[in-house]
Amino acid sequence: MSFPRDRLRRLRETKALRGLTRETRLEPHRFIAPLFVVEGSNVRQEIPSMPNQYRLSVNQLVVEAEEIAALGIPAILLFGVPDTKDEDGSGAWDPNGVIPTAIKAVKQAVSDLIVITDVCIDEYTTHGHCGVVKDGRILNDETLPLLQKMALVHAHAGADMVAPSDMMDGRVQAVRQALDTDGFPDIPIMAYAAKYASSFYAPFRDATQAGPMFGDRQSYQMDPANSREAIREIETDIAEGADIVMVKPALPYLDIIYQTRQTVHLPVAAYQVSGEYSMIKAAAQSGWLDEEHAMMESLLAIRRAGADLIITYFAKDASKLLRHTV
Ligand code: PBG
Repeated sequence: MSFPRDRLRRLRETKALRGLTRETRLEPHRFIAPLFVVEGSNVRQEIPSMPNQYRLSVNQLVVEAEEIAALGIPAILLFGVPDTKDEDGSGAWDPNGVIPTAIKAVKQAVSDLIVITDVCIDEYTTHGHCGVVKDGRILNDETLPLLQKMALVHAHAGADMVAPSDMMDGRVQAVRQALDTDGFPDIPIMAYAAKYASSFYAPFRDATQAGPMFGDRQSYQMDPANSREAIREIETDIAEGADIVMVKPALPYLDIIYQTRQTVHLPVAAYQVSGEYSMIKAAAQSGWLDEEHAMMESLLAIRRAGADLIITYFAKDASKLLRHTV
């Protein structure tokens, strides 16, 4: 095949031809919208480092959930931002805590919307780590029962799916076991399987007023240099009972998303994290790039790499745009 007979530009000539031959498309039904829930009433507080994202009290969360569902987005992922924290993170399994309250309210108002909950104690602990801390170390096995308790409280409140994000070894098995023995064999687990120790989580830590008070997360989250290890993490989580595996962050790790999609037969989720969102927002606010185009291009790239589901703070904006560009 060679020029001048072959001309790749032939199929790029018109909008209709480009549409006809487009390989990848975005659809709102692939999006999951992450939301931050705070205590109190009528709170809708913009997160400084995440423009147009809010900390919401439960009644405002319900309004947001209704809007999300009306846009055709099937699921939300809830993060709790409690008023008080302690050394153990006991707020994480308080049945009257902010997340159980939020689950009940959302399920009552918009029963079709899939409510997924983050299962990790870091937002509830004074030290801000995802596991039990002793002598400056993050303990693995001691953390598992806490994750079980947290997942069960969410399940009892009506969560449709739980998403452990702590990166302790054995957590998927532990959570699966707890759910099965407590009467929730049908609640799926979306495992943050390949979660990297990434600098791109910084705005999220501002949003949740969490983040490690000492050290970093490198003893439990993955080294950004590693890809074979990501596949081991994913295979391990599948063996332990994960129903969906996630790669996080997304855009800097497209190779991992691609390899995962080639390797496994489960749905693959990718999390376009806070820093990925805020970079686009900040550049757009400075007039350095076009926000809508950058948003859609980044989401399309994540989809093209092989993500079936995309967790993204752009879920609403992208869905609105997709409605008008059928
Ligand atoms: C931990 C958790 C984090 C994110 C999701 N779950 C923060 C961390 O690991 O430090 C980051 C999400 C984002 O940046 O959007 N509970």
